[in-house]
Parts: sequence; C-alpha cells; structure tokens
Amino acid sequence: MIAPSILSADFARLADEMAAVQGERGADWLHVDVMDGHFVPNLTLGLPVVQSLLATTALPVDCHLMIEKPDRWAVGYAEAGSHNVTVHVEAAEDPVMLAKNLRAAGAKAGLAIKPHTPLDPYLDVLKHYDTLLVMSVEPGFGGQAFMADVLGKVRRARRLVDAGHLNLVVEIDGGINADTIEQAAEAGVDCFVAGSAVYAAENPAQAVEGLRRQVEALSIRAR
Ligand code: DX5
Ligand code: ZN
Repeated sequence: MIAPSILSADFARLADEMAAVQGERGADWLHVDVMDGHFVPNLTLGLPVVQSLLATTALPVDCHLMIEKPDRWAVGYAEAGSHNVTVHVEAAEDPVMLAKNLRAAGAKAGLAIKPHTPLDPYLDVLKHYDTLLVMSVEPGFGGQAFMADVLGKVRRARRLVDAGHLNLVVEIDGGINADTIEQAAEAGVDCFVAGSAVYAAENPAQAVEGLRRQVEALSIRAR
C-alpha cells in the first residue's frame, strides 16, 4: 500500500491535493500528520481539520498522532471516522488500553516507534495493534533523509508477522522515495508513507504510481 502524506501538500488546497492522489492505481490510504508542538517541535493540524478532511475524501484516512497525551486525545480521531489511528509508544501511558479504546471507537489501532526506540520491549503490546509504524526519520518534518538502520526492526516485525506471532500491517514513514522504497520493500514493509516524494512531484498521481510499480517489480522478481 502507498499512503501519501499531506504534510508536504499545499495546506490551502487540501481537498484538491487529496483528490490529486486518488484514482484506480492511486493512494491506498491518506496519511495525515498531527503534530502538537510538544511531542515534536512542529505544529500542523488537529481534529477539526481532520473532520473536514474525512468529510471530503473517500480514501481511508491514516492519522499519525505525534502528540503528547494520546491516551486522552487519540480516540476522538477514531470516533471522527479515521480508518487507522497511530499513536507513539514513547508518548502513550497505557498503550494496551489505548488500542482497545481506538478499536472500540471503530478504527484500526496503530503504534509508532521513533528511529531509536527498540521494538522488542513492545512485542506483547503489539499483539493489541493492527499497524506498526516504523519511523525512518526523526518525527516532526517532511523531506528528511531515510535512516536505513531502522530496517532491522522492519525485518524483525516481518518475521514475527509471517510466523503468526503478530497480526499487523508493517508501515514505514520518513524519507521514502524512488531511491529508498526498494530496500524498505525488501525488508518487508506492507505500507509506505511518502510525503515529499509525492507532493513535491509535478504530478502526485504519477509519483504514487511510480512508487507502486517499483514495489510490484520487486515482488514479481521475488516469485
Ligand atoms: C514526519 C511525518 C511524515 C512525513 C514524511 O514526521 O511523520 O509522515 O510527512 O515526509 P517525507 O516522505 O517527505 O519524509
Ligand atoms: Zn507520518
């Protein structure tokens, strides 16, 4: 799956920018980065804007909450109708309860880990989650360089999913573009978030299609 991040879109034209990646071979999910200026040193948008986006797009919305106190705030994004709501393990007080609450509100529950956060301490917690978001840049800004070191965590998660120990979508976020997507795919990513690679392109739909073709070409070769 390809999930364009609207962080790199024109915020004055969000409806058009969302429509620009929709289509038969277009985006699978729409990734929305919520930043509170505390958990990360950047501020983007919050629930009222997400509600408007949800009312405007048919795409499943993938909310990535880079906020403090997700135990308090995340459920609102699920209740609003987001497809998947991802919280950071570094910020959550009770991630198991939080996952239950997100699911009870009708969303998939996602757990994000920053580049230097280890995976193994959270394997039990992840049994309650539907998606694992491996950050491949320090959260906060688009357009940063991909940190290939995190692929070890992707490979580990992939093995655990394939062995039936976990049942979740492995998502990667940060620095995904034509030069990096193949190594991420080979490591076992299911869902690729791409911000600048899509929205800095002249034709965002073509950029999505190009990334998809790269991943498909790899899986054909692997067969
Ligand atoms: C960064 C965000 C990402 C961001 C990725 O903190 O979580 O979703 O939009 O942007 P690129 O693809 O440009 O690295
Ligand atoms: Zn994100």
